[in-house]
Amino acid sequence: MENFLYNTPTRVYFGKGTENQVGQLVKEQKCKKVLVHYGSGSVIRSGLLDRVKKSLDEAGIAYVELGGVVPNPHLSKVYEGIDLCRKEGVDFILAVGGGSVIDSAKAIGYGLANEGDVWDFYAFKRVPTACAPVGVILTLAATGSEMSNSSVITKEDGGIKRGCNTEYGRPRFAIMNPELTMTLPPYQTAAGASDIMMHTMERYLCKTDPTLELTDGIAEHLLRVVMKNARILVDDPANYQARAEVMWAGSLSHNGLTGCGTDGGGWESHRLEHELSGMFDVTHGAGLTAIWGSWARYAIDCRPARFAQLAINVAGVKAPEGYELGKDSACDKEIGLKGIAAMEDFFHSINMPVNMKELGIDPTDAQIDELADKCWKACTDGNKTSLGSIRPLLRDDMKAIYEMARG
Ligand code: NZQ
Ligand code: ZN
Repeated sequence: MENFLYNTPTRVYFGKGTENQVGQLVKEQKCKKVLVHYGSGSVIRSGLLDRVKKSLDEAGIAYVELGGVVPNPHLSKVYEGIDLCRKEGVDFILAVGGGSVIDSAKAIGYGLANEGDVWDFYAFKRVPTACAPVGVILTLAATGSEMSNSSVITKEDGGIKRGCNTEYGRPRFAIMNPELTMTLPPYQTAAGASDIMMHTMERYLCKTDPTLELTDGIAEHLLRVVMKNARILVDDPANYQARAEVMWAGSLSHNGLTGCGTDGGGWESHRLEHELSGMFDVTHGAGLTAIWGSWARYAIDCRPARFAQLAINVAGVKAPEGYELGKDSACDKEIGLKGIAAMEDFFHSINMPVNMKELGIDPTDAQIDELADKCWKACTDGNKTSLGSIRPLLRDDMKAIYEMARG
C-alpha cells in the first residue's frame, strides 16, 4: 500500500430540508459578508435561491449575489466575482448549484486570498497559499467538488480548461439534499452518475500492485451502487433513495477515499476530456464516457489483470471455470475487453455516448491535433513527462486515443 494523505475537512449536512439550515451554518463561519454564487437560472426556477436568501435573512447575514455561472465555468465570471467581493468586502462564498458553480466559487476564493492573476494557479505558474472559505448547497450529484480539493476553470480565450488542486480548496461545509437534484434533466443526471464512476475508475485503474483489499472493495462497491441506482433513475427520476445513494457516492468518489493507498490513478480520461469540453463545450460526464472505452482499450495490455478485476467484480463478466486473476495475461485481457464492452453497454443503458460521434461532435483532423497538443501542453506545463499511470501517454498516444474515440 502506498503512503497517502486523507484530508476531508468538509462538514456534510445530508438529507431532506438541510438547505434550510444554511443561514445558521454561515453564521457559524463568523464572516462579515457572503457572496451567494449560482448558475444560469435553475436555482431561481426551483425556488431554492429564495429559500436560501430567506434563511440568510433570518440569521441576519449580509450578502450580495452573483449568478450566471455557465457549465464549464468561465474565467471572466471568476474575475467578475473577485472584483465584486473586493468592492463589497465579502469574506465567505456560498455556492448554490453544481460543480461549475462550486469551482467558480473556489476560483474566486483563490483570487480573493492571493495577490496577482488567479489564472496563474490554473496555468501552473504559481501555487496558491490560501483560499477564502467556501460553503456549498449542492444541486447536482456529479463532480464531487463539494468535498474535493479541485477547481476546474475554462479560459474562454483559446478554450483552455485547467484544474487547480490544493487542500485549501476543500469547502467548509456541503449541504446535500437529494430532493434538490430531482429537477435535473435526465441527461445531466446520467452524466453526473458517469462522472462519479469515472472519479473512482481513474483511481482504481492504476498500476499499484498488489491489489488493495479495502480500497478496491470500497471502489468496486461504489461503482456497483452507482450503476444500479443510475439505471433506476432513468425510469424513476423522483426516486429519493436512488438520488440519495448517487449523491453520497458522488462525494465519496472524489474526496480521496476510493484512492487511498493507490498511486492516485492516472486521470487519463479526465485530462483527455477536459480538452474536449474546453474546445467543444460538451457536458463533462458525457465527454468522459465518450473517451473512456478508447483509452481503456489503448491501455489494457499494460495491466490486463486490473481490467479483468473490474470486469468480474463490477461489470458482471463471468470468469471461465478455473480462471485465476493475473495468472495468464491473454486470458486476463480477454475478460478485461469483455468488461470494457460491458461498461459501454451500461453507459448506453443510461443514454450516455461511448464515442465522439454519439457525443455530437465531429472534430476535423486539425482539431484532433489541437486536442492532442493542448492535452500534452497541460501535461508539460504541470512539469510531467507523460500522462497517466497504467500506460504513460505521450502526445502521439493522446492523438491516437482521440482518433480511436471518433466513432
Ligand atoms: O446553471 P444552472 O441553471 O444551475 O443549470 C445547470 C447546468 O446547466 C444544471 N443544473 C444544476 N443543478 C440543477 C440543474 N438543472 C436543474 N435542476 C438542478 N437541480 O445542470 C447543468 C450542468 O451544471 P454543472 O454545474 O456544469 O454540472 P457539473 O456538476 O457536472 O459540473 C461540471 C463542471 O465541473 C468540472 C467539470 O469539468 C465541469 O467544468 N469538474 C470539477 C471537479 C472538481 N472540482 O472536483 C471534478 C470533475 O472531474 C470535473 O472536472
Ligand atoms: Zn470528473
